[in-house]
Amino acid sequence: MAEDTSAPNAETPHWQEADSALFLTMDDVVVPMRKQQIVALCALIPAQRDETFNVVELGSGGGLLARAVLDAFPNCHYLALDGSEVMRAQLRETLAPYGDRVTIASFELEDAAWREALPSPLRCVLSSLVVHHLTHEGKQRLFGDVAQRLEQGGALLLADLVAPASDRVRLLFADQWNAMAQTQSQEIAGDLSLYQAFRDAEWNYYELTEEDSMDHPSPLPDQLQWLRAAGFSIADCFWLFAGHTIYGGYR
Ligand SMILES: C[S@@+](CC[C@H](N)C(=O)[O-])C[C@H]1O[C@@H](n2cnc3c(N)ncnc32)[C@H](O)[C@@H]1O
Repeated sequence: MAEDTSAPNAETPHWQEADSALFLTMDDVVVPMRKQQIVALCALIPAQRDETFNVVELGSGGGLLARAVLDAFPNCHYLALDGSEVMRAQLRETLAPYGDRVTIASFELEDAAWREALPSPLRCVLSSLVVHHLTHEGKQRLFGDVAQRLEQGGALLLADLVAPASDRVRLLFADQWNAMAQTQSQEIAGDLSLYQAFRDAEWNYYELTEEDSMDHPSPLPDQLQWLRAAGFSIADCFWLFAGHTIYGGYR
């Protein structure tokens, strides 16, 4: 497996290694309907099963989505980017069976350098629960930079939190997320211990009453407009539950 060990950007990312470690202990509980989300993302990738093409994932985390895509498309090459060494160590382990079909590299989401170095041709850019760390302006820049580098028919596919349209919608998202975390905790642990960890970590963004400096979900209608302005001919939402949304654009 190829690995780029270049040093992370000097700017400290808001996401800390402790967040990575915590996330890896509870991701199956804190992410609603994760398997369903991964199946949807794989189905949206614009490629035939046996095609040879490049996929890039921004913030690959523990590598669950990467593994699903590598299995679904046995000839794709996967560039898994993540700013966290804890996550890259997990990726090295999880993705080892795929050998040189995978490259793991460090990146800083906001930086321009990795965008300029993206593989070409590029069929698909994926990301799950990462792009909400960018501001509204940062997302618009990202959409423009990715659109420029995708091949015709290529896609930017995002699974992420979006800003609720009103306080009523926020409360609905918060309740849906709590209920799903309870269900998933029962399924995985057989009790509510993992749900309690989710509560203790104050992970439910839609319950936060104070400004959160790390998370900047943007309204979905705005993001679809930014995707169209960036040059995506199709920009749409494909799935949504508890504020977790699968959306994106096709060139
Ligand atoms: C909530 S986790 C999601 C991980 C994975 N995509 C998933 O869905 O399970 C956020 C991921 O983005 C990475 N990340 C967050 N902010 C970043 C930044 N500014 N630059 C690079 N990576 C970042 C973290 O290291 C982490 O792996």
